[in-house]
Amino acid sequence: MSVNTDAANQVLSGLRPFPVAVTTIDGGVANGLMSLSAGAASIIPEAPRATISLTKYNKTHDMVLSSGVFAMHILSADPAEIDASLDILMTLGGSSGRDGDKIAKLRTKTGVTGAPILLDAHGYVECRVVGVLDVQESTIFVGDVVASEVFSDGPKLRIGEAWGKLPAEWIEQYEANHVPQLQSAKDHRFGPKA
Ligand SMILES: Cc1cc2nc3c(=O)[nH]c(=O)nc-3n(C[C@H](O)[C@H](O)[C@H](O)COP(=O)(O)O)c2cc1C
Repeated sequence: MSVNTDAANQVLSGLRPFPVAVTTIDGGVANGLMSLSAGAASIIPEAPRATISLTKYNKTHDMVLSSGVFAMHILSADPAEIDASLDILMTLGGSSGRDGDKIAKLRTKTGVTGAPILLDAHGYVECRVVGVLDVQESTIFVGDVVASEVFSDGPKLRIGEAWGKLPAEWIEQYEANHVPQLQSAKDHRFGPKA
């Protein structure tokens, strides 16, 4: 039986509504990206874990694999804070650290793992990787939370609200950047130029 991919995508879309900013440091170089793949990964409240899925195309993927540390930030939808949230989203999700230092453009402090903590985020968990699952085009990381803080008492930013507020030129650039990323994923999954 062939898979009804429309039905599958309808079931799967929107399961993770909160965009997160993932940062890391590897060999003294800091970087980060945006992700819609984050989740909680522990049922033990006193021993929290987080999970993220990163595409191999992205520089942050290789850096987290190598360093074993990441910080995962939620963004704020508070009217007084949303501009800073969109700035983080556009900075980390709109280009690659291969093309320049993105972290230097944001307000940060250094976390306990050395990863940069984004001071304009809603809050964050900082993690040390305890599990890695290679799934062809991407890697799923699970990390023990080793530090966390909440900076804002406003609501968390959802991706639907963010898309509605992002400038059209930025979305165009993001979509153009997504083309080689998608091809790279297909190459990893099905073989080159599938
Ligand atoms: C809303 C949004 C969600 C994204 N989700 C993911 C994701 O789950 N995993 C991933 O690897 N990249 C994701 N990306 C793409 C990366 O953020 C983007 O390719 C980034 O430029 C990679 O930067 P880097 O090469 O410096 O790591 C997402 C981007 C946006 C804007």
